[in-house]
Amino acid sequence: MKDQDTSNLSWDEFDEMRDPRPATNDFDAVVERAITRRGFLGGALAFGSAATVFGSAMLTSSRAQAAAHGGFGFEPIDIATDFDIHVPEGYEWKTLVRWGDALWSEADGAYDAETGVSPAMSDKVFGENTDGMETFFVDGKELIAVNSEYVNPKINLPAASDGTPQNADEVMLLKNLQGVTVMEVAMNGGTYEVVKDSPYNRRITHETQMTMDGPAAGHALVQTNADPEGMSPKGTMNNCGSGKTLWGTYLTCEENFNGYFGATGGYDETDGLSRYGIGGEGRYAYEKFDPRYDLTAEPNEPNRHGWITEIDPTDPESTPVKHTALGRFKHENAEMVQAADGRVVVYMGDDERGEFIYRYVSNGTYAEGGSTEGLLSDGQLYVAKFNDDMTGEWIALTPEATGMSLEETLVFSRIAASAVGATSMDRPEWIAANPLKAEAYCALTNNSKRGGDAMPVNAANPRETNEYGQIVRWAPAGDDHGADTFAWDLYVMAGNPAVYDNAYGGSENVTDGNMFNSPDGMAFDSKGMLWIQTDGDDSNEGDFAGQGNNQMLVGNTETGEIARFLTAPNGAEVTGLCWNEDNTVAFVGIQHPGGSWPDGNGKPRSSIIQVWRTDGAPVG
Ligand code: FEO
Ligand code: CA
Ligand code: CA
Repeated sequence: MKDQDTSNLSWDEFDEMRDPRPATNDFDAVVERAITRRGFLGGALAFGSAATVFGSAMLTSSRAQAAAHGGFGFEPIDIATDFDIHVPEGYEWKTLVRWGDALWSEADGAYDAETGVSPAMSDKVFGENTDGMETFFVDGKELIAVNSEYVNPKINLPAASDGTPQNADEVMLLKNLQGVTVMEVAMNGGTYEVVKDSPYNRRITHETQMTMDGPAAGHALVQTNADPEGMSPKGTMNNCGSGKTLWGTYLTCEENFNGYFGATGGYDETDGLSRYGIGGEGRYAYEKFDPRYDLTAEPNEPNRHGWITEIDPTDPESTPVKHTALGRFKHENAEMVQAADGRVVVYMGDDERGEFIYRYVSNGTYAEGGSTEGLLSDGQLYVAKFNDDMTGEWIALTPEATGMSLEETLVFSRIAASAVGATSMDRPEWIAANPLKAEAYCALTNNSKRGGDAMPVNAANPRETNEYGQIVRWAPAGDDHGADTFAWDLYVMAGNPAVYDNAYGGSENVTDGNMFNSPDGMAFDSKGMLWIQTDGDDSNEGDFAGQGNNQMLVGNTETGEIARFLTAPNGAEVTGLCWNEDNTVAFVGIQHPGGSWPDGNGKPRSSIIQVWRTDGAPVG
């Protein structure tokens, strides 16, 4: 352990830091097993053996060639600690859209550097804190559907000294700046810009009327005074990661919805509320001004959030659908692939310390251009068990296995998953599936509470007080995402090799030159390279010295090599990644930047940027 200033720690933190234990114990043995036994060593040779474990096909000669050179189309960049964006030599970047930018001409000038967005135009501008996004290509048009995860009340309510809304109008302003934006983008003078007034442009907020489908739709648990049928929920909130269906619709993932609910009076403290962190005072005081968020008035309203919601970006009149068959938890993203027999498979993470990784498998099958009826409403939800011997299984959350009704397993998926002995993970963030072979990767961002009896280490989450995170990957049996068993290993364990020479130094593919902490967003490009975005500690001090600002890296999953591609402004996390149709432009989200990025004056503005190669070749 390095020296650490303990003077400002509480006793509790101090105890947690010291946590004395013998030099060699079970914990060390678990780490040893996870990082070495199956060749998790970061070298091409080691990954050759990992490929054998996964039963994968031989590399094609061109991929083998690329792997020999890391396969990166750029020179990796150094860390940064400033309030700017950096990309490799031969690349450029420019903002595409910032919080407060008008989507319709009537909202021109709606943003003011001193006061923020005018309330009257707050649902006509790009929202704050951009997150998951996907591109869609329809009738020669290019569309982006993108989440605005949350708002920073202090930035949006400059007159409210403590950052808490003081009236219903302020609550409405905050609500309008969250949710989803669909917008058309087009090239103009060599770079993309938003097509203002496009008929495709749309804002979807807390207020947008939705429907529900699947087994829990209409159930008593989702009925409210405002919607006694339990079929017509309003709004989507805290939209984090994203997904894209095989049939070209957008999946938005409701994550930390719990913080919006509170009680102005009495309410029943149920396991269903407490397991989801709901109760007492809400984090944002919405319940004081809008009864929908008040547990005293509408105790079932929280059960109508925390779902995967499907939006058709090509039809601005379409009604978004909450799919209860995919379970309710703090959804990070939704990665859709297909089983060998054509069934639809969706991988999903629940981002909270010690929560789980889930899989949904449809009962029906999908063929291109065919019916999508029932594909996200009629199927089975599973949860992952990662065994210490590096095998794993998907456990079906059935009434028989959980002792709960089908509707309860969906509304309270966390409780159902605990009942069947799922493996508690270090905060599952994005899951990305390799388009070139049957495997999927999940970013386990960090877990300050891992260790001890309450949340003991396990092979896939092998470090106590895990402040760096790791990426776990699995290959389904028979190369079939529909199979109920898999083999797994850790693709990378982030760490700081300059500070630690133990497991906290990271796996061997982590070096002084590429180190990072807290992997979060992930996406594969069409060449099979894994893009990794971070949301971690950017202090560049102590355990994080030498890691600089949050960043985006590219991983070669065959060789294990990882190279830094982009650094974000200090204070920001990198969120969301998608490409234009020919992959010559990457769109990258920059959430909660510090300073006054990107304008250089006034408030910091969460933005989507575009990144391209000056020679016009595909990005990466
Ligand atoms: Fe919204 Fe788990 O990140
Ligand atoms: Ca995230
Ligand atoms: Ca995160």
